[in-house]
Amino acid sequence: MNWGLLLDFEVEYHPFQRPQELVDYCRSHGIVFEGYCPLAKGHALSHPDIIKMAEKYNCSPSQICIRWSIQNGVVTIPKSTKKERIWENCQVFHFSLTEDDVTVLNGMHDDLHLSWDPTNID
Ligand SMILES: NC(=O)c1ccc[n+]([C@@H]2O[C@H](COP(=O)([O-])OP(=O)(O)OC[C@H]3O[C@@H](n4cnc5c(N)ncnc54)[C@H](OP(=O)(O)O)[C@@H]3O)[C@@H](O)[C@H]2O)c1
Repeated sequence: MNWGLLLDFEVEYHPFQRPQELVDYCRSHGIVFEGYCPLAKGHALSHPDIIKMAEKYNCSPSQICIRWSIQNGVVTIPKSTKKERIWENCQVFHFSLTEDDVTVLNGMHDDLHLSWDPTNID
């Protein structure tokens, strides 16, 4: 088996920070795009449209954000200090968001950086 060289790139990625140009660049160069802060450090969980979507899918706002990352082809790394939330965050493979709902979430991007902003690096 040829394992080749596996490169990954860890970048902030959540509904308010979706650097699509960078995702496309990574994809075209065989680099796995890995998204950190997928829940926007918890901020996404109180967004009214995400709460409404969670009600529609009978899941939690956290699961909506995680499922959205996955459907956009992004490896996602949510974090919780609580066992039950870690379990909840893993239960995202029994449902799919519609294309329209993915589009709604994609449209929430407003370039919010909760961690460092890599575009400021020279
Ligand atoms: N490479 C980098 O520069 C970089 C920068 C930032 C983060 N990261 C990594 O990315 C991972 C995630 O980032 P993050 O922790 O900043 O942000 P995050 O995963 O977007 O959000 C974590 C926050 O959401 C809460 N939470 C998690 N699951 C929840 C649920 N099901 N319901 C309600 N609240 C929930 C957590 O609280 P509780 O703990 O109380 O559940 C915590 O306050 C971490 O492993 C971190 O190491 C990397």
